[in-house]
Amino acid sequence: MAALPADWRVAADAEALAQRVAERIQSLCARAIEERGAFHWALAGGGTPRRCYRLLRRMPLEWARLHLYFSDERCLPAGDAGRNDRMAEQALFSGLPIPPGQIHRIPAERGPERGAAAYAATLADAPAMDLVLLGMGEDGHTASLFPGHPALEDTRLAVPVFQAPKPPPERVSMGLSALNGATRRIVMVAGSGKRDALLRIREGQRLPAARLARSEWYLDAEAAGTTPPRRPANKTD
Ligand code: 6PG
Repeated sequence: MAALPADWRVAADAEALAQRVAERIQSLCARAIEERGAFHWALAGGGTPRRCYRLLRRMPLEWARLHLYFSDERCLPAGDAGRNDRMAEQALFSGLPIPPGQIHRIPAERGPERGAAAYAATLADAPAMDLVLLGMGEDGHTASLFPGHPALEDTRLAVPVFQAPKPPPERVSMGLSALNGATRRIVMVAGSGKRDALLRIREGQRLPAARLARSEWYLDAEAAGTTPPRRPANKTD
């Protein structure tokens, strides 16, 4: 099998992965603030970034200079525990001095079409993202852009998603062009469940995550396949 791509960085485990990405984001944030006075950052959803967010919230960032966006959102009621913005609020930004007007949630509670139209307007008014943080699903999806779905080819800044294979079925996502229009992308991938999709990408399959423009990939060893997948804990352990 071909060697890992040069821009794929492998951490020993999920905790080390979270630490490396948190430090990288802290560095990018400080540089953006020094150069442009602000850091415009689209957050990843799902579970992988949670550890990273918890580490970051304890780091000395100039929080008042951050503008937060979201790479995608699930069409659930505002405040629902299953929403990506709820996870990010609890793990990263609750209680931090980010002006509320600088947290740009996706109004996915309005449904895919209306939510996407509203968020496309938000993105159109925003400067280019300094960073988009993304995860990757076991099928190679990223944000809410799933293999074979029309949303993947939709060129709008924010796109409606229907019948997503990962529940909930309705979502709003930044479109591929918006993700690729960011200054920088970081993709965080952890766990042996992602190994197959990473292998397919290395073999040249154009899964959604492989269609991202040049990105920094941070993997843990389980996802990268450099250690055997962890056996489920034995109940008697
Ligand atoms: C979501 C995310 C999705 C996520 C990947 C990875 O709504 O779940 O937008 O793209 O980043 O599915 O999820 P995990 O990090 O939980 O494996």
